[in-house]
Amino acid sequence: MKKIAVLTSGGDAPGMNACIRAIVRCAASHKLEVMGIRRGYAGLLEGDFVKLGPRSVANIIHRGGTFLETARCEEMKTAEGIKKAVEVLQREGVEELITIGGDGTFRGAVALAEAGDTKVIGVPGTIDNDVYGTDYAIGFDTATNTALDAIDKIRDTAGSLQRPFFIEVMGKDRGFIALDVGIAGGAEDILIPETETKIEELCLSIKRNFKKGKKCSIVIVAEGDEAGGVFQIAQEVWERLRLDYRICVLGHIQRGGSPTARDRILASKLGAAAVDALAGGKSGYMVGELKGELALTPLRDAWEKRKELDNNLLQLMKVLSA
Ligand code: F6P
Repeated sequence: MKKIAVLTSGGDAPGMNACIRAIVRCAASHKLEVMGIRRGYAGLLEGDFVKLGPRSVANIIHRGGTFLETARCEEMKTAEGIKKAVEVLQREGVEELITIGGDGTFRGAVALAEAGDTKVIGVPGTIDNDVYGTDYAIGFDTATNTALDAIDKIRDTAGSLQRPFFIEVMGKDRGFIALDVGIAGGAEDILIPETETKIEELCLSIKRNFKKGKKCSIVIVAEGDEAGGVFQIAQEVWERLRLDYRICVLGHIQRGGSPTARDRILASKLGAAAVDALAGGKSGYMVGELKGELALTPLRDAWEKRKELDNNLLQLMKVLSA
């Protein structure tokens, strides 16, 4: 019986469990043996494998995080690490590997495929949604909804005390989460790394909002915004406007929680597509979804090519946040 393995690597994302479940159950329907690798590439290097069957993935579809656990593994960035990983996969008799994660995960997967005989398929799982070759990565929808829920609550108190609020959201060096939650949450301003942040303009906007009779100013700040971070931005605004303000860093709550229906469905489809791709003899690809259709993208493109923000949304942001 052919043996395949699955691992999750890098930052966990809600929906990863649903994806593992889909992989294990689809693999069973193809009569494949599945091994789970615990703690991503770190577990791979240590040979931390566990046999998975359809029953081992029962009751996980609704759980956040990843039951296989994950890691950020520096050793996999070295030639020695790759060599060791190839040896472990050979020793364990793993012919095919599915990796769920973001750009770092795919770099490791390509290095493995190039250094050994293991066939690899990647599945995009990151709340940052910064992966080329898919409109949505697993976890993004849940993370934006979690952030949105918090922003709605903050709006209640911000309006009651008529204060500007600076809310930092995750996204690494990209503004996908900030842009979506900013629009969905009716933010007065959205600061993202992809557009230049001008403090004077931000101050004007905040002043204008209060003059217009708005009760609050919600400013969404992507953690990767180039203007020095949420604390510095808020301080610079205060120095000019002397308005009492508050900062809220949403942080890791955005990574946790039960996945939304959208994320569970995407995870199920992409998990099944990954197994199908391997069954069809494919290797070195990421499975994704573009305009509602399943799409295979060379794994290398997934991190080498830049995924652009939706231009229409960017335009809308400018109009709505003016
Ligand atoms: O890549 C996912 C992510 O949550 C980013 O949005 C964030 O910058 C980073 O991971 C945080 O990583 P860690 O959990 O290692 O602090």
